[in-house]
Amino acid sequence: MERLQVILAGLGVRGRHWAEVLRRSPRCEVVAYVDPNPAARQRMNEQFGERPGFTTPEEALQAMPTVGAIILANPPIGRKTQIQAAAERHIPMLVEKPLALSVAEAAEMVRIAEQHQTALMVGLNFRYLAVTKAARELLAHSTIGQPEFARFTYERYRDGNRPDLNKYPLKMDQPMLWEQSIHHFDLMRFVYGAEPVLVQCQTWNPSWSMYESDANVAALFTFSNGMIVNYQGTWQSGWSEPHFEWRTDCTGGVIIQKEQFGALHTAAQADKTLTPIELPPHELWITETQGLLDAFVSAVLDHKPLECSGRDHVQSLAMVEACVISSRESRSVSIADVLPQDTM
Ligand SMILES: NC(=O)c1ccc[n+]([C@@H]2O[C@H](COP(=O)([O-])OP(=O)(O)OC[C@H]3O[C@@H](n4cnc5c(N)ncnc54)[C@H](O)[C@@H]3O)[C@@H](O)[C@H]2O)c1
Repeated sequence: MERLQVILAGLGVRGRHWAEVLRRSPRCEVVAYVDPNPAARQRMNEQFGERPGFTTPEEALQAMPTVGAIILANPPIGRKTQIQAAAERHIPMLVEKPLALSVAEAAEMVRIAEQHQTALMVGLNFRYLAVTKAARELLAHSTIGQPEFARFTYERYRDGNRPDLNKYPLKMDQPMLWEQSIHHFDLMRFVYGAEPVLVQCQTWNPSWSMYESDANVAALFTFSNGMIVNYQGTWQSGWSEPHFEWRTDCTGGVIIQKEQFGALHTAAQADKTLTPIELPPHELWITETQGLLDAFVSAVLDHKPLECSGRDHVQSLAMVEACVISSRESRSVSIADVLPQDTM
């Protein structure tokens, strides 16, 4: 069986998920580790087997110009030259979300990849959760009718100083939106199969926040099919116990997801109780990342259509950027006004 040779760049929290998923994949093989931090490379060598090490993706790509693919699990800062280096060599890329910290920069990366006809997939692993697939199926085939409005709540006390979490969000601008809400906004587009057109948003930071910029987001989105989604997200909840609920109200009933990784329920309009939807077992951060990797490998080796493309991701990033502008300028923002012409 043909195996995809992969350079793994960025060996932090997410890089370790990737190393585990790649180790288990019968279709992939890691051929190099990349990280400027020697301790991170050393840890990989010890945990996942010795491989050649590099300090930058550009350096690794220059040394291995015929490698099958590169995964960028580094922070979303300064990735343009890395994407350029991979695209010029026609090396397919799987890049962690958010692709960049502005729509303009992400759109530029998409242009670079497309000019060189090189695949650029974004790491939207939550699309590959069984619960996400089941919610889509329910909306497509169930008897509860058409979705009209929804409430998406994500409340978490994220201790940004915890040793097993990345540190850059503590200092970055709008960490909740760019790092976390991006997943939620992408899920809305994916599950409803509709594009956002307008948002009203306010972001703020609670007095106890350990983040320099806003950890709280309240946003009201209007979608192309008329759906209205009321979103509330925080990384600095007043309670350490996390709370997730995504409720979609349809013409004939509701769908309620009660946990980030599962717990899907439905009820018809007149039902007294919710009916749980059976879901397969799930290994946190692994099962859905395996789904993402399988889709990437199918695109690269089997020439299947690319899922989670960079071009598609720009639409979700536009939701984030529209929220930033809406909050800053205290006004509704049209998503079309945030998108560059060639990405609409
Ligand atoms: N999809 C998901 O569920 C998920 C989960 C966590 C993180 N992420 C994303 O993964 C990315 C990394 O996050 P993290 O939590 O692993 O951060 P982290 O800080 O734990 O790790 C990042 C690693 O990248 C290294 N690095 C910095 N610059 C580099 C460069 N130029 N080349 C190679 N490596 C470099 C750092 O030394 C560090 O080891 C971010 O984009 C983040 O949003 C995605």
